[in-house]
Amino acid sequence: MNRVELINISKSFGGITALKSVTLKVMPGEIHALIGENGAGKSTLMKILSGAYTKDSGQIFLDGSEVQIRNTHDSKKMGIGIIYQEFSLVPALSVAENIFLNQLGATGFWMKWGRMKKKAEEIIHSIGFRIDPSLRAGDLSIAEQQIIEIAKALSENVRVLILDEPSAVLGPQEIQKLFDTLNRLKKEGVAIIYISHHLSEIFQIADRVTVLKDGSSSESLKVSETDRNSIIRLMLGRSLDAMYPVRNSIIGEEVLRAVDIYLANKVRGVSFSLKTGEIVGIAGLVGSGRTETVRAVFAADKRKKGKIFLFGKENQLGSPRKAVMMGIGMVPEDRKKHGVILPLTIKQNISLTDFNGISNHFGFIKAKKERNNAIGLITKMTIKTENENQEVSKLSGGNQQKVALAKWLNMDCRVMILDEPTRGVDVGAKVEIYNLINELSQKGIAILVVSSESSELMGICDRILVMRKGMIQGELEKKDYSEEEILRLSIGAN
Ligand SMILES: Nc1ncnc2c1ncn2[C@@H]1O[C@H](COP(=O)(O)OP(=O)(O)OP(=O)(O)O)[C@@H](O)[C@H]1O
Ligand SMILES: [Mg+2]
Repeated sequence: MNRVELINISKSFGGITALKSVTLKVMPGEIHALIGENGAGKSTLMKILSGAYTKDSGQIFLDGSEVQIRNTHDSKKMGIGIIYQEFSLVPALSVAENIFLNQLGATGFWMKWGRMKKKAEEIIHSIGFRIDPSLRAGDLSIAEQQIIEIAKALSENVRVLILDEPSAVLGPQEIQKLFDTLNRLKKEGVAIIYISHHLSEIFQIADRVTVLKDGSSSESLKVSETDRNSIIRLMLGRSLDAMYPVRNSIIGEEVLRAVDIYLANKVRGVSFSLKTGEIVGIAGLVGSGRTETVRAVFAADKRKKGKIFLFGKENQLGSPRKAVMMGIGMVPEDRKKHGVILPLTIKQNISLTDFNGISNHFGFIKAKKERNNAIGLITKMTIKTENENQEVSKLSGGNQQKVALAKWLNMDCRVMILDEPTRGVDVGAKVEIYNLINELSQKGIAILVVSSESSELMGICDRILVMRKGMIQGELEKKDYSEEEILRLSIGAN
């Protein structure tokens, strides 16, 4: 018997139909992957199951009986746990308080701080991690925050566990621990729904897979009976010939040189250079100092020591504003916080970086130019939206990422720093982004890309720097590229 049956679920938001009669059935003790392009409806379907959204029509069955899920409280009572795509921790509360947040208000539940801390510690240990439960959630790294989200979902007994892109911010070791936990829960009979844009993960962990396309569901396939290309065809409606563009840009003179950069205890003596037309990657595990390095170059964080040279001349780039004035752009890793302004429209977000390009000398925005520019980028990056005036907060997670990227790609610059540019975007859009990066480099722009996906760095970069413990452990030329070598340098094994 199925643990969960979602039958003919439909849901619209104003004029947008997010789900058209979707059906999904998941058995106990099964890991069921739910995949699809950005905006296909995956998160919406899961939010209906968790009670965060209400369905327009359709039925939900749990262990064979129809249930009414009116709110998140209902779903929790039924044993449905969910880890949302967007984080839901309260930054000002401790780790322990966050884990037990849902239970704090429940009648009869009054836990002493000491006991709560101990229980929180136990849950964190049981999933293979060590994080002090008395720390403030807001002070944790994003990987640690994700681990706390998982602990929180497991603080109550779950019969159904939903994970909406849990691995996006985790490193390979943390993902392995997550998979160990999921396999254990699977043995205990939990029904698990796993959303991810990393197809390799689906083949590693899932038993069956269902594809959503434009709000409609495919039949469920056994993972052992399908392959990557068939899944991509179901998702995109076409196959992908090549993931990566052919590199033929002309690499010229040095544009930027960073010398002996130090940042608190996160970056310890990093030096590198970038040439015009060149794409350089920074690999390394989560926490190795990659993001801190690029933030230090961009002057988003204050360097303790170190020099920056632009075209051979020293320039300290005292602030991000000065960096932008000198022609350096950066797409940050944490796009919710630094990348997009959620209550503004797509057009307004895109226009923020190119104010000079679209305003005439009286300072008025040339409405038509602004609009066409925004529409051009929406098409190029396949941003799924009604139109350019849609509020960014209403877009799916991956489409918000694309707006952040479009916003910076819109800027005229000489150096572009991209921190995890394809995190959370679907395979089709990834290819579009690789092509855009390649096009920028062909225009002579120097590009620095931080990524946790070594295959993507090997696919697009001319050189790769591998970081560990705040230092560059090695630099790889194209002929020496291999996942093993990158991992070896990342973890410091011999
Ligand atoms: N609160 C909302 N208001 C208006 N439209 C919404 C809202 N939430 C989702 N949508 C729309 O519903 C559609 C499906 O979005 P959903 O977030 O379910 O996609 P997804 O498959 O999770 O994509 P991603 O891989 O990018 O996370 C999108 O067109 C999105 O813009
Ligand atoms: Mg989503």
